[in-house]
Amino acid sequence: MDLNSLEAVAEAMVQSGKGILAADESTGTIGSRLDQINTESTFESRNAYRDLLFSSEGIEQYISGVIMYDETLRQSSLSDGTPYPEYLSSKGILPGIKVDMGAHDLPRSEGEKITHGLDGLDERLKEYRKMGARFAKWRAVINITEDNPSGYCISTNAHALARYAALCQENDIVPIVEPEILMDGDHDIDDSFVVTEEVLHTVFFQLYSQGVQYEQMILKPNMVLSGYDAKDRANVDEVADATLQCFARTVPTAVPGIAFLSGGQSDEDATAHLNKMNQMLDENKPWNLSFSYGRALQQPALKTWLGKSENVSAAQDAFMHRAKLNSLATMGKYSEDMEK
Ligand code: 13P
Repeated sequence: MDLNSLEAVAEAMVQSGKGILAADESTGTIGSRLDQINTESTFESRNAYRDLLFSSEGIEQYISGVIMYDETLRQSSLSDGTPYPEYLSSKGILPGIKVDMGAHDLPRSEGEKITHGLDGLDERLKEYRKMGARFAKWRAVINITEDNPSGYCISTNAHALARYAALCQENDIVPIVEPEILMDGDHDIDDSFVVTEEVLHTVFFQLYSQGVQYEQMILKPNMVLSGYDAKDRANVDEVADATLQCFARTVPTAVPGIAFLSGGQSDEDATAHLNKMNQMLDENKPWNLSFSYGRALQQPALKTWLGKSENVSAAQDAFMHRAKLNSLATMGKYSEDMEK
């Protein structure tokens, strides 16, 4: 595959039958995941866990790219010591890097967040590109409450996302633009629709204003879902329908692909929603719809591994099973009975 242009890299990331593995948990976040399986988080245990995922036999059939954290990008395969960017590239998998510095309190707001990381970003991108990274990720976090999100929170986050995306393209790196509206709360699917629509409009206005090329980026959004604590949660058809309608209104078709985050949905829901959307879109898809899941791809593997070397092979099987089902969902070919 010709990967000499940003357009080609972006298209390869969302090619049919494949999606992105988000394995870019910060040291703090991976620490809590390892804590759940009573495994101490150390440089070695984090490397062992990432190695388990990356060395799964046949991973390249379903996974087009892997998002890593700074530490992981500098770590190496346990089998032969090859640095991960080179190791993944040799399997035909694109290496990616999370470059934001996390969501912090937004000054003069009521509990809202702004993502840090623009200072020094240009220099970091230059180093990551030299190390082999072909794409990057920046996540903005938006919360739905009685009073939020504010226009101020949406516009400052959208502005930062566009600053990041423009810097990536300048440095020959495809930006994943991730405005995540959290599922926490009891809001219904209509609230989620209204907020997602406003956020995406604002993000694309900023991307346009700052000269970001839509053909050279990937959007990583939330699906339009009811909040976790909503009374009557929307079903699979309603979620797929609302999400597609919202994107038809807001996402230019010049964007090659949309790679959803899973956002704390169950593994099965994340797969079923993606599958239904791909079934609803006809042959002339405006964008390829794929996945960039963290939890919804990794949970079964983590729970099978339990930090024990004797469980590595079973954990890899569990990971590959989810990767395969999500691959089928990118083609609308998944069905619930495959879960058994
Ligand atoms: P989840 O799929 O677990 O939401 O993680 C995706 C991600 O990369 C969040 O930034």
